[in-house]
Order: sequence, then structure tokens, then C-alpha cells
Amino acid sequence: MFNRIPLSSSMTEVEKILEKPLFTKDDLIHLLISSGKDRLALFEKAKKTKADYLGKKVYFRGLIEYSNYCKKNCYYCGIRAGNNHFARYRMSDEEVLEAVQYAWENNYASIVIQAGEQTNKPYISKIESLLKRIYIQTKGQIHVTLSLGEQSEDTYKRWLDAGAHRYLLRIEVSSMDLYKKLHPDNRAHDYQQRLEALRTLRKTGYQVGTGVMIGLPFQTIPDLADDLIFFRDFDIDMAGMGPYIEHADTPLYKFRDSLLPLLERFDLSLKMVAILRIMMKNINIAATTAMQTIDKQGREKALMVGANVIMPNLTPVKYRQDYLLYENKPCLDEDAQECKSCLEARIHIAGDVIGYGEWGDSQHFSDRKPGGN
Ligand code: 5AD
Ligand code: SF4
Ligand code: FES
Repeated sequence: MFNRIPLSSSMTEVEKILEKPLFTKDDLIHLLISSGKDRLALFEKAKKTKADYLGKKVYFRGLIEYSNYCKKNCYYCGIRAGNNHFARYRMSDEEVLEAVQYAWENNYASIVIQAGEQTNKPYISKIESLLKRIYIQTKGQIHVTLSLGEQSEDTYKRWLDAGAHRYLLRIEVSSMDLYKKLHPDNRAHDYQQRLEALRTLRKTGYQVGTGVMIGLPFQTIPDLADDLIFFRDFDIDMAGMGPYIEHADTPLYKFRDSLLPLLERFDLSLKMVAILRIMMKNINIAATTAMQTIDKQGREKALMVGANVIMPNLTPVKYRQDYLLYENKPCLDEDAQECKSCLEARIHIAGDVIGYGEWGDSQHFSDRKPGGN
């Protein structure tokens, strides 16, 4: 008789929504526009959800920005093929293996290899051989996440067989109409194909992560609600989301006056993290670098409302200026050691602890696999 607590009539709409087991699109819109006490109730619930389901552990993913060559021309991105205002680079095998060694020796247990999109055969083989060398060098103790864009099923398989475990491919926006406004209209930027790539990754056996940008030109609050529903329907294992930040050398820059103020984009990003944590309790959610571009404590704040993964940068400092997807990206002059100390402090401030030496696989992925772990 007492096991159901009646919802008091003095509860606000948002507080009532937060009690629900499943959010509708309307509920999500309410949460996204919440303010004052309601907004704090949302953050509090997200914080509690993280504590209840995942504890205080935050996992490091050493980020290696392998190459800024990209065959694509996404309208928002600073390293798009059409931008020739900076130098292109690709790290040597030795540089990659040195960064991996740093991660391994410092007990990171996990790295992310990210680059612009390339699909030529020598490149695919190069990644495959690098993965094998990483496996041998670290005795298979480092888990590797790839973020190398849309590839064929065969390529995804080869990279998985060579030692990769997880793959990040942001859908960027889940609305096909909006996707079309943010990308050139050609086969290399096809929404359906991107969706198919996500399905292929899932089928191939990766832990799959996706994500969106928040505060893009033409994007609406209902679009963001749809993004959250997309993550739930796709049953993702990992998410990486962050505010859109304009870059002067991109086509979208001309819409800069129509954007939400930076702080509002940041706040919406925090809400997206918090809501997703409540919706998908056991997935991995990253406190992304873009969050810190707007707010100096952006990543700590994301950790406090549900994020549980952070990516210390391991890219050699000499390349960082040339991997500017957006402006004012932090950590341009700080080396791996400085980013490590910096993030240790930030995680401490957020009241969390680092899961050193732990792979920190998405619990969601383990639960999803037949036979659990
Ligand atoms: N602002 C914020 N994020 C961006 N990305 C690309 N350009 C921008 C930008 N201007 C994100 C995309 C991509 C990821 C690697 O970086 O979501 O998937
Ligand atoms: Fe290339 Fe990715 Fe930038 Fe698009 S977002 S231009 S695929 S690096
Ligand atoms: Fe790189 Fe803070 S994380 S300097």
C-alpha cells in the first residue's frame, strides 16, 4: 500500500516528468527548456542516476588525432577538404606508437584514434597494420576506439580483427532534413549511408558510439528531442555530444548571427548529457572537449550531470594547431603530461575518481551481448 509514493500536486510539470520511466518527445522538450528549480532538479536526477548505476568512476580515453586529411566537406568543420588555410598532416607510425606507449605506461587502458575521413586502400591497410602493432606493443592490454568515419563493412571487419574494440561515428544530427542543410548534396554526405554505417558497425561487433552537435544553425529544440529518441531507439553503447562552435573558414560561418549565444549552447549541451544519462543509465557518455571551449569548467560540469568518460589529448603538440574542427579549441600548447594532470584535477573537483587500468567498457554493451559479460 505504501510502495507507491503519490505524486504531490505541488510538483512542477518537470518534476513529474522526471519521475516517469519513459520520456515522450513532449517530455524531452520540457526538460530541454527547463529553467531555475526545474533545471536543477534535472541535473540532480542525472547526477543521482550516474551515482546509482555507475558510481564515481570516470574512464580516460587517450585521444590521438592521427590525421587531418579528410575527403569530406561538412559545412561546419574546420578541417573540411575545401579549407586550405592550414597544413595537412598524418602522424608517423612511431609517433602513434609513442603516444600509445604513454597511454599504456600511464595506465589509461584505452585510446581513441580519430582522423578526418579517408577510404583509399593504402590508408585502410595502414590503420590495420597500426592496430596490429598497437596490440603487440601493449600485449593487447590497451583497448582501441576508432573514430575514422564511414567505411565499408569489409574495412570495419578488418579493423576489428586487427584489434579495435569500439567505434565512434556521430550521426551529427538525426533529422534527415537538417543533415541535408549541413552537408553537400552528394554521395559522400548521404544521411542514409551514415545510418547504414552505424548499423554495419553494430552488426560487425563493435561497441558503437554516436552523437550530435548542439546549437547548430537551423536546429530546433524538437530536433534535439528527436536526437535523444534516436539514441534510445538505436540502443547506442556510447555517446559524445557537444556544442557547435563556429569556424570562420567554413560555409556555416555566415549564419553566425542566427546562433544561440555560446552560453545557451553550452547549457543545452549539459541538459542533453543529463537527460541522456537518465534515459540510458548504463551507457558511456563523454565529457567532450567542445564543452570546455565555452566554459572553462565545461568538462567538470558535464561529469557532474552524468558524463563518465574523458579524453586526455595525446596528439603531439606540433600537430594540434592543425586539428581545429572549431575555433578556440583548448589544449593547443599542453602536452600529454599537462593534459593528464589537468584532467586529474578536474575529475577530482567534480568529486569523481579515475578508473586507471580499467577498460571501462560500456556496461550497456556487456548487458546487450548474449550471456552478459
Ligand atoms: N563545432 C563543434 N563540433 C564540431 N565537429 C566538427 N565541426 C565542429 C564544430 N564546428 C565535431 C563533429 C565530428 C567531431 C569529430 O567533431 O561532430 O563528428
Ligand atoms: Fe571530415 Fe569529419 Fe570534419 Fe566532416 S566532420 S569534414 S568528415 S573531419
Ligand atoms: Fe589539456 Fe586541460 S585537458 S590542458
